[in-house]
Amino acid sequence: MSAAPQPAAPALRAVVPAPLLEIERVAHVYRSALGEETTALDGVSLAIPRGAFVCLLGPSGCGKTTLLNMIAGFVTPSSGRILVGGEPVQGPSPSRGVVFQDYSLFPWLTAGQNVAFGPRMAGLGAAKRRASAQALLELVGLPNVADRYPAELSGGMKQRVAIARALATDPQLLLMDEPFAALDAMTRAALQRQLLDIHAARSKTVLFVTHNIAEAITLADRVIVMSPNPGRVAADVAIDLPRPRARTGAGFVALYARLADALGAEGTE
Ligand SMILES: Nc1ncnc2c1ncn2[C@@H]1O[C@H](COP(=O)(O)OP(=O)(O)OP(=O)(O)O)[C@@H](O)[C@H]1O
Ligand SMILES: [Mg+2]
Repeated sequence: MSAAPQPAAPALRAVVPAPLLEIERVAHVYRSALGEETTALDGVSLAIPRGAFVCLLGPSGCGKTTLLNMIAGFVTPSSGRILVGGEPVQGPSPSRGVVFQDYSLFPWLTAGQNVAFGPRMAGLGAAKRRASAQALLELVGLPNVADRYPAELSGGMKQRVAIARALATDPQLLLMDEPFAALDAMTRAALQRQLLDIHAARSKTVLFVTHNIAEAITLADRVIVMSPNPGRVAADVAIDLPRPRARTGAGFVALYARLADALGAEGTE
């Protein structure tokens, strides 16, 4: 008696989710009005999975802001391409939220109106956008500032409002360019904790630029170290320490030394 035919074995295929952000051999050359050229970045390739928290660490002038501006859609690469969710970046989009170093709130709008700006542009009704702005201000720990103007807020409060504003369009990707650099150490530590809570609660993908090695180790799952002249990826280091991360822990100290080494003499705290 012959054996019953067996069903075909399913093909063995590793299920690897496509990265949210793909940067392929990107270069950028700035040209001045006098025709002078600066190659800010050259041959930068990166793939960042959905939900990751990645820090870009590098000395001044290595092209971190240029790279972030290209991902945000404010600057077009001179060559190479950038894909978000498989689609080429062709300009700014509400699916990419941006927080800058300098408090970039609109000074003529209240905190609540700043947060509601993106939803207003997207056509959300007044009552709904007010309610969602208030909920986001509460999320960043500012339940009572909706009617205050930016000039009436401290630096830390302004950056919290800027984070709430960046979250208001429910972006897939949060791009942050040294958002805490101008803050005192205590406010910076509080905002780092809050950002980690938001990342965990909202499962956003975060790309965070910093000069600060300890900040990168505190925040990231992965640190991309860049080198200057022109800007390139010098190292790609996984940060697999449990959270919260004590700066005095042996793992933290070892990673600090490794990243400082990758940064070379230009490493900064
Ligand atoms: N608009 C511009 N026109 C000409 N050159 C520029 C322009 N913006 C940046 N650059 C040059 O491109 C290079 C990268 O600058 P970028 O601002 O991206 O560096 P960065 O890593 O963000 O530096 P920092 O840490 O100081 O913010 C630098 O040499 C800079 O002088
Ligand atoms: Mg910069």
